[in-house]
Amino acid sequence: MRDDRSSSDRSGTGGIDLHLDPRARVGSGELAASLRTAIREDRLPPGSRVPSTRDLADDLGVSRGTVTRAYELLVAEGLLLTRQGASTVVADTEPPIRRHARESPVRRPTDLHWDLRPGKPDLSMFPRSDWLAAQRRALRHVPAAELDYGHPAGHPLLREALAEYLGRVRGVRTSPERIAVFGGYGEALRVLAEVLLRRGTPSVDFEDPSLPKLRDIAGEAGLRVNGVPLDESGFDPRGSHSPVLVVTPAHQYPLGVTMSAARRAELSRLARTEDRLVVEDDYDGEFRFDREPVGALQRWAPEQVIYAGTASKTLAPGLRLAWLALPERLVEPVRERKADGDRTPPVTEQLTLAEMLRSGSYDQHVRRCRAGYERRRRRIVAALTESEVRHELYPAGIAAGLHLTLRLAPEGLSEQRVLRRLRRHSVAVEGLAEHWMDDRRRQEGLVIGYAAPPGHAFGPALRTLLRVLSES
Ligand SMILES: Cc1ncc(COP(=O)(O)O)c(C=O)c1O
Repeated sequence: MRDDRSSSDRSGTGGIDLHLDPRARVGSGELAASLRTAIREDRLPPGSRVPSTRDLADDLGVSRGTVTRAYELLVAEGLLLTRQGASTVVADTEPPIRRHARESPVRRPTDLHWDLRPGKPDLSMFPRSDWLAAQRRALRHVPAAELDYGHPAGHPLLREALAEYLGRVRGVRTSPERIAVFGGYGEALRVLAEVLLRRGTPSVDFEDPSLPKLRDIAGEAGLRVNGVPLDESGFDPRGSHSPVLVVTPAHQYPLGVTMSAARRAELSRLARTEDRLVVEDDYDGEFRFDREPVGALQRWAPEQVIYAGTASKTLAPGLRLAWLALPERLVEPVRERKADGDRTPPVTEQLTLAEMLRSGSYDQHVRRCRAGYERRRRRIVAALTESEVRHELYPAGIAAGLHLTLRLAPEGLSEQRVLRRLRRHSVAVEGLAEHWMDDRRRQEGLVIGYAAPPGHAFGPALRTLLRVLSES
C-alpha cells in the first residue's frame, strides 16, 4: 500500500466519496461496504459508471483482486450491473431503498420471493392485538404533559421496565437512570462512537468477521476500526488492543459461536484492569434453544461493559427501538449527545413497549417466537444433514438466534456462484465472505435467516433453498 496517500486521495476515488480510512487496511468486505453505502446514499446514483477495477485498485493502493471481489459481491446483491464489453454501472434499484437510505443500518427490503435473510424476525408474528391493547392502556393513563418533548434518555417508564426486564432475563446489573433508549442499535452505536471520539478515543476493535454496516457506523463517526480474529471459543481478548471493543458474546454475528466462560472471564478482567470499554451487542440473546441462555457479560463488569439490546429481533425492526445500559461515567455524555440530535423514539411507542414489558405480554411473545424459531432451526439442520449438500456446506455455531451459518468447503463450490443461483431462483440469503475485514481470514459460506419468512412460506422457502443448493 502506498503510504504517501492523503485521506482526500482515498475518499475522492474516481469522483466517488468512499469514506475510507487512509490508515486502515482495506479488504474487499470493507470496500464493498463503502460502495454499498455510497450507492444507498445516492453518492453513486443509478446508471453511474464505477471506475474500472484497475483504476480503483491503483487509487486505493489495494490489489485488483480485492476490487474485483467487492464488485462481484455487489453484482450478486443486484446493486451493480456488468455487461460484456461495457463499464460496470450502478443498478436502478427500488426507490424505497434510496428514499430510506439511513433508516436502518442493517437491512433493506428485498424484491426476491423467498426471504431467508438473516437478522429478521417473522413479522407475521408481530403481536398486533397485544401491542394495540398495551398502547390503549398506556395512552389512557399518560398525563398530557408527558406528550411534550421527551426525556433525552427515553421515557422513565420504559427505562424502569427495561431495567427490571434486563436484570431478570439477561442478568444485566443496571438501573433506570443508566438506561438510554434509541431508534435502533445502529443509532445507539453512532451516538456512542461520537461520545467516545469526543473523549479522545482513537480506535475501536470489532470482531472479524462482524456486520460491515455496524463497523461503517463507527468508521463514519471518525473512529479507526480494527478487526480481531475469532475462533470456536469466540472473541479472543488477547488480540484486542483498542480502548473500546464491540462484541457479540452470546451469539457471535455471523459465525454463531458463543464466547467461552474462560474468554468472558478474561475479557471482563482485562476491561477492569486496563479500564477498557466493551460494547456487548446482545441482539438476539433471548433466543437460545439447547439450554438456558448464558447471561450478559455486563454483569461481570458493569462499569466497563455497555450492554446493548434491541426490539428488532423480538418484535419488529420497523419499531426502531433499542437500548443501552451504560456505565455511570457515560450516562451524562450520552444524554447530552442524544439531546443535541433530538434522537429519541416517539413517546407513544416507548410507552407501549413499557406496558408490554410490565404486563408480561412481551415475555409471552418472546416465548412463542422462541418455540417457533427452534422448530425451524431443527427442520433446516435436519434437512441439510439428510441432503447431498452436507458434503459442501457445514453448519457453524450454537443452536440459537434467528440465523444459521453454513460454511462452504474450501475446495468446493464458490460462494458467488451459489449466491447467483439462489438469486436467480428468487431466494434471498446473505454471503458469509463479506463479513471479514481481513481478506486472509475470509471464509465462504451462507448466512440463512430462518426466522424471516412467515410460517406458511417457511417450508417452500426451505425446499427451494435445498433444491438450488443441491443443483449448484
Ligand atoms: C449483529 C446485530 N446487532 C444488532 C442488530 C440490531 O440493529 P437495530 O436495532 O438497528 O435493528 C442487528 C440487526 O440485524 C444485528 O444483526
